Amino acid sequence: MPKPAHLTWEEAACNTLCAATAYRMLVGDRGARMKQGDVVLIWGAAGGLGGYAAQLVRNGGGIAVGVVSSAERAELALKAGCTAVINRRELGLDTMTDPKSWRRLGEEIRRLVGEDPHIVFEHTGQETFAASVYVARRGGAVVTCGSSSGYQHLYDNRHLWMKTKRIIGSHGANAQECHETNRLLGLGMLTPTLSAVYSLDDAAQAVRAVQLNRHPGKVGVRCLAPQDGLGITDHEQRARIGEDRLRLFRTQETS
Ligand SMILES: NC(=O)c1ccc[n+]([C@@H]2O[C@H](COP(=O)([O-])OP(=O)(O)OC[C@H]3O[C@@H](n4cnc5c(N)ncnc54)[C@H](OP(=O)(O)O)[C@@H]3O)[C@@H](O)[C@H]2O)c1
Repeated sequence: MPKPAHLTWEEAACNTLCAATAYRMLVGDRGARMKQGDVVLIWGAAGGLGGYAAQLVRNGGGIAVGVVSSAERAELALKAGCTAVINRRELGLDTMTDPKSWRRLGEEIRRLVGEDPHIVFEHTGQETFAASVYVARRGGAVVTCGSSSGYQHLYDNRHLWMKTKRIIGSHGANAQECHETNRLLGLGMLTPTLSAVYSLDDAAQAVRAVQLNRHPGKVGVRCLAPQDGLGITDHEQRARIGEDRLRLFRTQETS
């Protein structure tokens, strides 16, 4: 795919995996096929997938409710496109395996946006899946592409079948979905969620940050570019979109 001309190498490299996966999950024919006005609950709304999901929901006229684990991430998720954000630590939702916590989450979503989610954007897995099935509205869908907290999901199937909800599995994106996503990046309708860039020597630190959930958005590891900030060929488009949007997630400078 052509590199978006207004992005640096590291900004361009960080997008496709998570942005195209989120695109297929939300917009793709085999995903949840989000409609205008849909309420979408996004787990990890300031994370790699979630930071793009928030932008895609906003672009498509949906109402994104993000879940995050800190005040800083809440701010990022709101700026990325969420209409409302839930800090799971503040709400006491560190563990989500008992029905009381599912109800607390559902009540909070209703308090914030007045309705249950049409779509739950899942990748967190074992610890959140039962809550996701519970809070999706009647006829709604849980779309999942991962299981960060564990692969064996236990949920109460009554909430799924009696309210005719669906679980949709999604993996990566096909060539067309990747091109559609890349086009949105080129137009500035999607912007990178790169938060930090590490040198190749510091790759282990980058991996450790991801492992411990210390990073928002994406982390980059610079392999061939000798320094950050190279590769921009369309400066006008960059100025139109604005550094504040392009560097929204950039909370940490280069190592
Ligand atoms: N199948 C595919 O095509 C595909 C593509 C991309 C990614 N994935 C998978 O999707 C998952 C997420 O990827 P990512 O790049 O978005 O990772 P990430 O950047 O680490 O973001 C994950 C987010 O999930 C939240 N989270 C983590 N543990 C949680 C828990 N126990 N309960 C609630 N929230 C939790 C965190 O947000 P807070 O702590 O702020 O709440 C974190 O920001 C991974 O398992 C990855 O392998 C699959």
